[in-house]
Amino acid sequence: MTRLLPVLGLAVVLAACSGEQSMLDPQGAFAVESDKLFNLVMWIALAVFIVVQGLIVYSVVKFRRKDGDDELPEQVEGNHRLEIAWTVIPAIILALIAVPTTQLIFELDAEPEGAMTVEVIGHRWWWEYRYPDYGIITANELVMPVGVPLRLEMRSEEAGSSDRGVIHSYWLPALAGKQDVVPGRQTHLNIQADRPGRYIGMCTEYCGLSHANMRNRGVALEQADFDAWVAEQQAAAAVPEAGSLAEQGAQLFGALGNGRQSCVQCHNVRTDEAAAMPGDAFTPATGPNLTHLMSRKEFAGAIFDLYVREDPDDPNSGFTDTPNEAQLKAWLLNPPAEKAMTPEDGIGMPILDLTPQEIDALYAYLITLK
Ligand code: CUA
Repeated sequence: MTRLLPVLGLAVVLAACSGEQSMLDPQGAFAVESDKLFNLVMWIALAVFIVVQGLIVYSVVKFRRKDGDDELPEQVEGNHRLEIAWTVIPAIILALIAVPTTQLIFELDAEPEGAMTVEVIGHRWWWEYRYPDYGIITANELVMPVGVPLRLEMRSEEAGSSDRGVIHSYWLPALAGKQDVVPGRQTHLNIQADRPGRYIGMCTEYCGLSHANMRNRGVALEQADFDAWVAEQQAAAAVPEAGSLAEQGAQLFGALGNGRQSCVQCHNVRTDEAAAMPGDAFTPATGPNLTHLMSRKEFAGAIFDLYVREDPDDPNSGFTDTPNEAQLKAWLLNPPAEKAMTPEDGIGMPILDLTPQEIDALYAYLITLK
């Protein structure tokens, strides 16, 4: 049994790679193309492996020293024909692989016809998404209609400036390959989902303290659901009822007082219907846009649930409609304790010294931002 443990462990690890986050189970047109090339190379490599290993095993068995065989075998050194053969054959194999590889690189780089443009901005440590065609700014979740190619225009920024950005790498394994996101220049990635679903992604370039906490999600919706999402995102933020706790929260959101930094210094909540992008696009983003915070399912770089899970013990179960009050309040109380950040350097959310009453009011306000 103890011998089986490593095997079982490997099985568990491999099982964790299956499903919605596996590049070996592609869920979109571009990912399928990369997967085909991967399979081609894998089969060729497997054939080479079998031939080489076969020859080694054959030689070991055939030429092993036999009983009473005390003489030194004939010593051979160099065989020009063989050496040329095992130099030329791999060269031909590599040249053959290079043809479809180069083709695919150019194919995946070209802007697809009818593509929807989405700007992707890497921040420490979360992803911002801007839809210039719709005037939408959101975070953590790349929402896309099924079957439509997206052209991601990607850059890295900090507080609206590329000077302080660092290199990130954007990856939604089931939907497309990886692409570096670099300060001071724009990179591109084509991405598409062929069926509705929620796809797991992560930053894959070490970008500092919370690199491992910089996750993202691909959310693929049927066209009608996507249209509904667009309409919802374009609307201004909900206005809390007069005299409600949420209204107190809204006021605190605008000004905390006592010399404290306010939420609005970093987070935009768009209360004016007409003020959608592109005007919004020039607001330097330090923190995620919260206009429709509760339309998302996770927060803080998609590491915490915004809603309670259907099965609290199963992190992969669906979401209920109940906001995750405990986690949101813990975040408001002490963000750097929840996620490693360095607000003293202007990276991440600082401790705002909120009283329990202020936290209750801010929470009441935030959950109205549907
Ligand atoms: Cu961003 Cu690692």
